[in-house]
Amino acid sequence: MQNDLWTTRKVVIVGAGAVGSTFAYALAQSGLADEIALVDVNQELVKGEVLDLSHGLPYYPNIQISIGKADDYKDAHVIVITAGAKQRGTESRLDLLQRNAAIIGAIVDDIAAQKSKAIIIVVSNPVDILTYLAFKRTSWERGRVIGSGTVLDSARFRYLLSNHCGVDVHNVHAYVLGEHGDSQVAAWSMSHFAGVPINEFCKHCGSCGGWEEMQAEIEETVRRSAYHIIEYKGATNYAVGLALLRIVGAIIRDERSVLTVSVPLEGEYGLSEVSLGVPSIVTQYGVERVIEANLTPVELEGLLASASLLQETIKEIQCNEQR
Ligand SMILES: NC(=O)c1ccc[n+]([C@@H]2O[C@H](COP(=O)([O-])OP(=O)(O)OC[C@H]3O[C@@H](n4cnc5c(N)ncnc54)[C@H](O)[C@@H]3O)[C@@H](O)[C@H]2O)c1
Repeated sequence: MQNDLWTTRKVVIVGAGAVGSTFAYALAQSGLADEIALVDVNQELVKGEVLDLSHGLPYYPNIQISIGKADDYKDAHVIVITAGAKQRGTESRLDLLQRNAAIIGAIVDDIAAQKSKAIIIVVSNPVDILTYLAFKRTSWERGRVIGSGTVLDSARFRYLLSNHCGVDVHNVHAYVLGEHGDSQVAAWSMSHFAGVPINEFCKHCGSCGGWEEMQAEIEETVRRSAYHIIEYKGATNYAVGLALLRIVGAIIRDERSVLTVSVPLEGEYGLSEVSLGVPSIVTQYGVERVIEANLTPVELEGLLASASLLQETIKEIQCNEQR
């Protein structure tokens, strides 16, 4: 497909915390963008990050890095939102969510006010809920407001399978679907090495306790990954930074890559009024198409249960907003 829309490769990153600044660093080194604008309400932090990143200019491919303002949204190709509030002492999960929804809502309003043609990628958690709320707020076509979804979880899944089965991670095709969170679903039926389904590979390998044991352990490890890393070091930043680079690269280079981004569904998998991680074709315009994978009944049931949990929370927030 011809890239007729975008003359600049400008990426605005909103939120210069652990995730935003790590992604900016990876993006600067990649040569994918011509311009990065970093935005944060914490002026000291954003000044420091932009200065530190800019001192690397002699070592990156040519790029401009600056502190972003609202008018940077106007000509951005991609806007990545990693802004978020931290939980206060006695604050409930729903109150925190409400505060983050207000933050993302205000950012999205600023983007729309600039008549931006950008693709928005929401990263802030809970990413699926905030993606859906951001999408509803813009009334843009659904492929332009997406979330990072389970792209990171799928990378964790591939890493663990690679280690366990002794196969190069680049030859491991595997996807996690649904919520970027506890109700996620490891889509074993879509997972293979060289076209050999992993359960078949497992039967002939015989080097571990067996298929069911391995499945349960790997699924649980993927699901708990973020908790463990946050316990060790306070935040996750490197792998998510690279997952964002993968998504942004697919957009900027119009790759038509299949990635499990979070997309507001319009009937796919029998679902609507929810956004969650599903395999999707990502182009310069965002998500062009959701792929309806041939899931097993158990996997589909898991995906529907994940969607239902997200829908309940979305309703809770919408009810709270109306009060
Ligand atoms: N989706 C994923 O795969 C994934 C992975 C890791 C982290 N996350 C999420 O990403 C978010 C960021 O994580 P982090 O570790 O970088 O947090 P962080 O606290 O280090 O950074 C958040 C930044 O957002 C800024 N901010 C708050 N309100 C803002 C606003 N209105 N405008 C601009 N900036 C604003 C803060 O000043 C802060 O610098 C969190 O919600 C986290 O849960 C998502």
